Amino acid sequence: EHQYNTILVERVGRVGIITLNRPKALNALCGELTTEMLDQLVKFDADINIGAVIITGGSKVFAAGADIKEFEGKGMVDLMNKDSLNWTLGFKNIRKPIIAVVNGYALGGGCELAMMCDMIYAGESAVFGQPEIKLGIIPGAGGTQRLVKAVGKSKAMEICLTGTVNMKAQEALQFGLVSSVHPVEKVMQAALKTATIIASQSQPVISLIKASINNSFEVPLQAGLDYERKAIQMAFGTKDKIEGVKAFIEKRKPLFSHL
Ligand code: CAA
Repeated sequence: EHQYNTILVERVGRVGIITLNRPKALNALCGELTTEMLDQLVKFDADINIGAVIITGGSKVFAAGADIKEFEGKGMVDLMNKDSLNWTLGFKNIRKPIIAVVNGYALGGGCELAMMCDMIYAGESAVFGQPEIKLGIIPGAGGTQRLVKAVGKSKAMEICLTGTVNMKAQEALQFGLVSSVHPVEKVMQAALKTATIIASQSQPVISLIKASINNSFEVPLQAGLDYERKAIQMAFGTKDKIEGVKAFIEKRKPLFSHL
């Protein structure tokens, strides 16, 4: 694997794992980290031996947000000229499913990164919050958009406007922000199990599902249904559809070729 300064990379079967690795800064998302993370995501996305990705911060902290030290001395025009959040556009282009495994703080950009992923598995220690207002700024990587869609308006307003109301794992589960909650020492294993199931399915068809679900956040219902209709027609064009249907009729497990 490529050696990075701020992330660790490993593979378990067809699952690629990216671990944010700036423990002294609570995995704050500095420019180098977001660049390295996106670089590796693009590599996994292009790799035929990878079917799903996990992003985690390890067992202590997910990420305490953007790197606040990089904000010092920067003004509006600096951000307009060099937008430090441009990496989020590249993140959106990843076709393979991404699971966030969150233990400890997922604050600010950390919460937003988790929400950019396709699903979130939480350890019991997980804490989600948007404390940007305390710095005199706003959640700028999706906090005012994705959080509303995940937990509803009132809770999102409370979290973003106060900066101090955080959501712990169980509450995040209750509000639908996360898929499931596990003991810290078991959450990675649980996510890996799910990622392995996803990665064993037809990769092109998995990408169609991810794209179709994400499209539902962008467009009105009928446009989403039309997109979905095209997507199922595309799925019928895959070799994996022929194999999947044949295997069902022959009462055996399908052997997908990801074609
Ligand atoms: N950026 C840079 N460094 C950070 C950081 C961040 N977001 N969060 C923590 N650190 C650093 C601290 O400066 C400290 O470093 P030093 O030892 O060199 O001083 C180290 O990590 C450990 O942090 P603490 O001593 O503060 O740890 P704690 O356990 O007492 O507190 C915490 C933990 C409550 C998460 C606290 O660190 C904190 O409030 N962090 C900032 C959270 C925040 O405001 N996030 C939003 C950032 S803005 C953003 O994300 C914009 C956006 O939408 C993209």
